[in-house]
Amino acid sequence: MPTAFITGVSGQDGSYLAELLLTKGYQVHGLIRRSSSINTWRLDGIYRGPQDRNKNFFLHYGDLADSSALARLVREIQPDEVYNLAAQSHVKVSFEIPEFTADITGTGTLRLLEAVRMNSRSTRFYQASSSEMFGASPPPQSEKTPFHPRSPYSCAKAFAHMLCVNYRESYDMFAVSGILFNHESPRRGETFVTRKITRAAANIKVGKQDLLYLGNLDAKRDWGYAGDYVEAMWLMLQQDEPRDYVIGTGQAHSVRDFCETAFGYLDMNWQDFVRHDQRYERPAEVDYLLGDPTLAREELGWSSKVSFEELVAMMVDSDLAAVST
Ligand code: NAP
Ligand code: GDD
Repeated sequence: MPTAFITGVSGQDGSYLAELLLTKGYQVHGLIRRSSSINTWRLDGIYRGPQDRNKNFFLHYGDLADSSALARLVREIQPDEVYNLAAQSHVKVSFEIPEFTADITGTGTLRLLEAVRMNSRSTRFYQASSSEMFGASPPPQSEKTPFHPRSPYSCAKAFAHMLCVNYRESYDMFAVSGILFNHESPRRGETFVTRKITRAAANIKVGKQDLLYLGNLDAKRDWGYAGDYVEAMWLMLQQDEPRDYVIGTGQAHSVRDFCETAFGYLDMNWQDFVRHDQRYERPAEVDYLLGDPTLAREELGWSSKVSFEELVAMMVDSDLAAVST
């Protein structure tokens, strides 16, 4: 039975990836951080507690800031595959806590790579790189596009990305990065723009909210479905040769388009409810991200399945169901 270790397992992608690997027959170990409230709600479908011995799913306390715990866990778990999904992942917040973001999103990757290298160089390593690293580089962006990061978050991701390249070249490790464009789902964190919009549209529809305040409506993103994207992560670790891949849909929409589609799905006109608030603007914006996933299609046989309209509908339906109960 193959064994996987996932950091960030309590996040959006971690929860989908854990589900996927369990269906593929893996024993899955996830890293969670201690918090004052239970923060494993995304794992409710697969985790019932440590007494549930029939499950091949285990949670361990740790933190990307704690290198000794990472080293101990890697030594105890002896994973065949490590997926490093943990990060301070919010771009706007990274301007407010840049040092923390650099430590977790950047140096945290180094700590984990070292833990793996010291244990076994045959362990395969996946790094959650980001299209944010392309930043100001014009679209479409592919594996050949230069990085021009525009936030402490994306600078930290670029550092982590280059570390993986370096560990591959220096130590012959199977370390790869998926350069993933934005991907969303009903499990998306509530402060990312898509979920903020779908939650607000649902709340407004049932009379629980009056208005939605947003920042830049002109920004364009290549939005896909997280459930599709975790499949690409797994595929990258099953290849004969380690290589970095861009993962996206190849289609971009503006934040304005997203508002129009989400409110329109509930028969509302978004312009009646959306207002601008300067506080949601960023010191430096990434205007236009559009992935060119040709290499992933050709070499991994991967392509996104859920369309933009289906994704918005899925998220609105979920938020409407939650707010109506
Ligand atoms: P997410 O929902 O924000 O999840 C982040 C995960 O990291 C959570 O499990 C969080 O734990 C954990 N974490 C944060 N700080 C940590 C620390 N110090 N030590 C250990 N764990 C820590 O992010 P996501 O959307 O699933 O994204 C997964 C990864 O892909 C992230 O690295 C993100 O930067 C990257 N990425 C995401 C996208 C996207 O569009 N979603 C695109 C490209 C790249 P808590 O639950 O305790 O907060
Ligand atoms: N969050 C947020 N809140 N974004 C807003 C708002 C708002 O009120 N109003 C406008 N936006 C704009 C942002 O300025 C940005 O241009 C766009 O909406 C998307 O913002 P987010 O949903 O916060 O995502 P992101 O693109 O900055 O970052 C996400 O995708 C990256 C991959 O490209 C995160 O998941 C990152 O972790 C990931 O690496």
